Amino acid sequence: MKAIVTSKYGAPDTLELKEVEKPVPKADEVLVKIHAASVNYGNIVLQRGKPYIARLAFGLRKPKFPIPGGDMAGTIEAIGERVTEFKIGDEVYGDLSSCGWGTFAEYATAPEKAVAHKPRNLSFQDAAAVPMAATTALQAIRDSGNITAGHKVLIHGGSGGVGTFAVQIAKALGAEVTTVVSTRNVAIAHELGADHVIDYKKEKLDDKEQLYDLVIGVNGSQRLLTYKQILQSGGRFIHVGGTESQIIKPCFSDHLFR
Ligand SMILES: NC(=O)c1ccc[n+]([C@@H]2O[C@H](COP(=O)([O-])OP(=O)(O)OC[C@H]3O[C@@H](n4cnc5c(N)ncnc54)[C@H](OP(=O)(O)O)[C@@H]3O)[C@@H](O)[C@H]2O)c1
Repeated sequence: MKAIVTSKYGAPDTLELKEVEKPVPKADEVLVKIHAASVNYGNIVLQRGKPYIARLAFGLRKPKFPIPGGDMAGTIEAIGERVTEFKIGDEVYGDLSSCGWGTFAEYATAPEKAVAHKPRNLSFQDAAAVPMAATTALQAIRDSGNITAGHKVLIHGGSGGVGTFAVQIAKALGAEVTTVVSTRNVAIAHELGADHVIDYKKEKLDDKEQLYDLVIGVNGSQRLLTYKQILQSGGRFIHVGGTESQIIKPCFSDHLFR
């Protein structure tokens, strides 16, 4: 089969289109014929090997996963003998980043737990854009954020991969949603359901007097102290991604969010 293959960290032109062996599913795996795969921020991190902290997971000197690609949608072409949820021909989608990546290829194998039936009303292309970003948003808003109806939620970065899902999930759970985006995305943020939109090109977050029950920071563009200042007492801050220093800092300054 044909696949995009990576052998060193660097710019996208280090990727190569190669003929590789078609994978064979293990007993608890499915073989998926890939119809669509999506590219998001995680793929950029994996290919560049930056921030360097990512190399702890992806390989210190070179990428340890030869075929990149996490999100995909496709059709099941073969199943292992212990697979119970799927049959050949089922349309599925999923995020394979926690089970070896490999979706920038004609075929990929995955544990059956890593895929789900694709909703009929989603095209393969649309479905492939959902898994990683939407699951990250769901974990931040629902699982770690614990929001309930009426909570005031700020999503800082509501027009990107994770943020667009975060705004919609927070609204669906009954929160009052404020999001921060740039001028070109203000209309989109309203369309996604945000109650209030702050344009970071024109306004500063710490100029506002509003306090929030939950703040989701979906990038590395704000000082952690600013987030603390806009939280209600007992409020919660969840960081999604961010710069190296923003990932490391909270580990050494637990007083910050007490
Ligand atoms: N995408 C995923 O599946 C995924 C999964 C896990 C973790 N993450 C992590 O989450 C973070 C964001 O990923 P993403 O895919 O959502 O990125 P993205 O698509 O680039 O979105 C970034 C968001 O931040 C906003 N933004 C940029 N500069 C800003 C600033 N100075 N002030 C306020 N907002 C600003 C952007 O708004 P404008 O576009 O309007 O400028 C946009 O809404 C990354 O660190 C990534 O590693 C992503």
